[in-house]
Amino acid sequence: MSSHASNKLDGKVAIITGGASGIGEETARQLANHGAYVVIADVQDEKGHNLTSSIGSHRCTYIHCDVTDEQQVKSLVESTLQSNGHLDIMFSNAGIMNNIKQDILEFDIPAFERLFAVNVRGMAACVKHGARAMVAGGIKGSIICTASVAASTGTEKWVDYVMSKNAVLGLVRSASKQLGAYGIRVNCVSPGAVPTPLLRRVLGVSEEEGERRFESSSNLRGVLKAKHVADAVVFLASEEAEFINGHNLAVDGGWAGIR
Ligand SMILES: NC(=O)c1ccc[n+]([C@@H]2O[C@H](COP(=O)([O-])OP(=O)(O)OC[C@H]3O[C@@H](n4cnc5c(N)ncnc54)[C@H](O)[C@@H]3O)[C@@H](O)[C@H]2O)c1
Repeated sequence: MSSHASNKLDGKVAIITGGASGIGEETARQLANHGAYVVIADVQDEKGHNLTSSIGSHRCTYIHCDVTDEQQVKSLVESTLQSNGHLDIMFSNAGIMNNIKQDILEFDIPAFERLFAVNVRGMAACVKHGARAMVAGGIKGSIICTASVAASTGTEKWVDYVMSKNAVLGLVRSASKQLGAYGIRVNCVSPGAVPTPLLRRVLGVSEEEGERRFESSSNLRGVLKAKHVADAVVFLASEEAEFINGHNLAVDGGWAGIR
């Protein structure tokens, strides 16, 4: 008996960067549940391998890839093509936050550069090589980047992070115009606060404390979970979003309002 939630991504091959944890991990499960074969790319090898075993090695694989290194991103895409023949979905999701307060008066430029290497350069490398594979293979694929509602609202602490997520919006806006000609869609999801390991580390809170703290940041009752973001990614990856391109889909329970 199949454990698939649906067959809507049957036959599709997906790469997820930052796929070993948090939003990427949940999205790996969801894409696989909807029938896609998932290549989980991350730098946390043990977590990545454990996740592969948990989802099932016939439905996914793990590849070590540091997105700051373009060569590793290129190899990730090449080995996905070698093993699976095509690439249909690129979920460029890997991202970090600095553990220090990044306000403009005390702005730590080296820390900003390290963050940009992942959140911006890494994101661009994944869109570039994902798109090249789709163009070469004549695949009308779907590329999805993880931005953040913080890009639109700003924050009091993390100016570098907000800058990086605005760069992701710029990447999606321009790439969607260029790749539309090939039938490739480029969109982003902008989550509100989800107490994943990334945010728990920065705020020094447990998952439960994080959920309690963020409950009030939604206009809906309940708590925003990685699953809600993953559902939005599945939608953007699927043919249900056939004519959605260049879109920034906020998944924040309405917290930031219409932007
Ligand atoms: N958690 C939130 O509240 C929130 C809100 C808005 C946006 N986001 C974004 O969501 C994305 C996923 O974050 P998350 O909250 O799931 O955090 P997470 O830390 O749980 O997952 C991020 C993953 O990215 C991986 N990663 C980091 N640097 C990498 C690199 N150089 N190469 C490859 N992988 C790398 C990490 O190892 C980790 O597994 C990020 O882009 C983040 O900015 C998160």
